[in-house]
Amino acid sequence: MITIGQLVNNGIKKLEEAGIDEPAANGELIAAFVLNKSRTYIRAFGQNIIHEKEEALFNKILGEKLRGRPLAHIIGEAEFLGRLFSISPTVLIPRPETEELIEQSLKHLSISQPQNILDLCTGSGCIAISLAFLFKTAKITSADISAEALKVALKNAQNLNVEQRINFVKTDLFEQIEGKFDFIISNPPYIPTDIIATLSPEVKCEPNLALDGGADGLRIIEKIVKEAPKYLSKNGLLALEIGHGQAQKVVEFFKSKEWLAPKTGKDIAGIERFIFAQKK
Ligand SMILES: C[S@@+](CC[C@H](N)C(=O)[O-])C[C@H]1O[C@@H](n2cnc3c(N)ncnc32)[C@H](O)[C@@H]1O
Repeated sequence: MITIGQLVNNGIKKLEEAGIDEPAANGELIAAFVLNKSRTYIRAFGQNIIHEKEEALFNKILGEKLRGRPLAHIIGEAEFLGRLFSISPTVLIPRPETEELIEQSLKHLSISQPQNILDLCTGSGCIAISLAFLFKTAKITSADISAEALKVALKNAQNLNVEQRINFVKTDLFEQIEGKFDFIISNPPYIPTDIIATLSPEVKCEPNLALDGGADGLRIIEKIVKEAPKYLSKNGLLALEIGHGQAQKVVEFFKSKEWLAPKTGKDIAGIERFIFAQKK
């Protein structure tokens, strides 16, 4: 017989030995999934005995994780701003930085309740759906070039009961987008093509379409900055997540008479990761 705490600690040790990132978080998350409880429960009730069936499931998931599969793909879900999102290998696994993108955006909006919002490059829909909860009267458009990603985003909106408020559009950036928005937000693909091969095996399990930002990583970001003014209302906000080291170049893209000077934002690691710009 083994306790939850012993099982989790054994798991953490194996994850550490295998060089897997964030071993403690992963060990706890696996136990939380297996027991259908929160991570707080796992920490608080570590002395409880775990049943054999649950121990076997924990070890099965741990084995897959040790073989380099992302946890979100193994268990089919990931948490974003306190809500659970279904995840498949056709969408990017939501990242904590993107939670920060949303949180920081709120400080840059010129109005407290934007009524028309566009989430460009929506993936799992984590941004659009989180905004549907923050802005209860807003109409939201969730756009992606991938039909598979849009299916996942729709499923997530249905699971969280906000599908009536979100319009899902399959489009290459703004091609099929109509109307004006108070707020356009995007976490686009921004990794330079050559860098993708050097990323961890787990990141390489994610769709290339969600990662590849062209030779310098800026192909899609540049297009968004160029096109966005046509789709923004006066004083409307464009909020973008960008890659490490890209801020200076991205700021240059905003040097046109349509934009007020953009502001950058740092993520929790101190990296300039966000750009916020208001249309004049
Ligand atoms: C980095 S992921 C972001 C997913 C999600 N918004 C998030 O933050 O977790 C980028 C997404 O952009 C989509 N995408 C790539 N190129 C696109 C394009 N030209 N037009 C629209 N969406 C595109 C991909 O399919 C992918 O879902």
